[in-house]
Amino acid sequence: MALPPAKPLHFLISAGPTHEPIDPVRFIGNRSSGQMGITLAQTAQARGHHVTLVLGPSHLSAPAGVMVVRVETAQQMLDELEARFAATDVLVMAAAVADVRPVHASAHKLKKEELGATLRLEKNADILAHLGRMRRQQVVVGFSLETLRGAEAIAEAVRKAKAKCCDLMVLNSPGSLGGERAASVVFVKSDGSSEDLGDLSKSELAGRLVAWCELAGSLQ
Ligand code: CTP
Repeated sequence: MALPPAKPLHFLISAGPTHEPIDPVRFIGNRSSGQMGITLAQTAQARGHHVTLVLGPSHLSAPAGVMVVRVETAQQMLDELEARFAATDVLVMAAAVADVRPVHASAHKLKKEELGATLRLEKNADILAHLGRMRRQQVVVGFSLETLRGAEAIAEAVRKAKAKCCDLMVLNSPGSLGGERAASVVFVKSDGSSEDLGDLSKSELAGRLVAWCELAGSLQ
């Protein structure tokens, strides 16, 4: 059964990994493909919403017709999201932000002998927590990828939802990385309530999540 037409909302969606440069040829990154956030952007756009996708260095093509802002690093992602957040109704942080970055990115290619002695790391800002603290009317959704299972995984997602001021955490497991399907998905709210969605395609999950955001957005 087709969903009824929705009131158009402004969706701000982050997707993909971030790359934190070590030198001109090396970086710190992760295995995120960007598929989930790209599918979400396409789904929200197809439902008639205004969508901006802030996309890290993914090898996937940006979806046609969606406003896309390309970024490399966590700091660039933070800057682009923050600049757009006030005019946003729904933020979905589907990006896998690198947790750390080199203190200095070397301008020249480091010799492997130099790496151990020169590579010092510092924490990146937590973008979702930062924007969560700034939120006013926005619906805020995060993703929580956990190797924990069952009640322990849900408890961790609740902890993150509270710490990052989110309405919803989309709990899932490492089986979601890279492919077309999302694994062990649970919608977890900061009050501890949860809805188990199991394994489903990323396109199905995108439909469920956009519908959830439409409902939450209509109640704000
Ligand atoms: N996130 C973020 N900025 C970061 C790290 C994570 O905005 N520097 C967001 C992710 O986009 C995701 C949510 O926070 O929506 C949860 O990410 P996760 O990696 O599970 O959380 P962490 O707080 O980094 O916890 P962990 O120590 O388990 O990696």
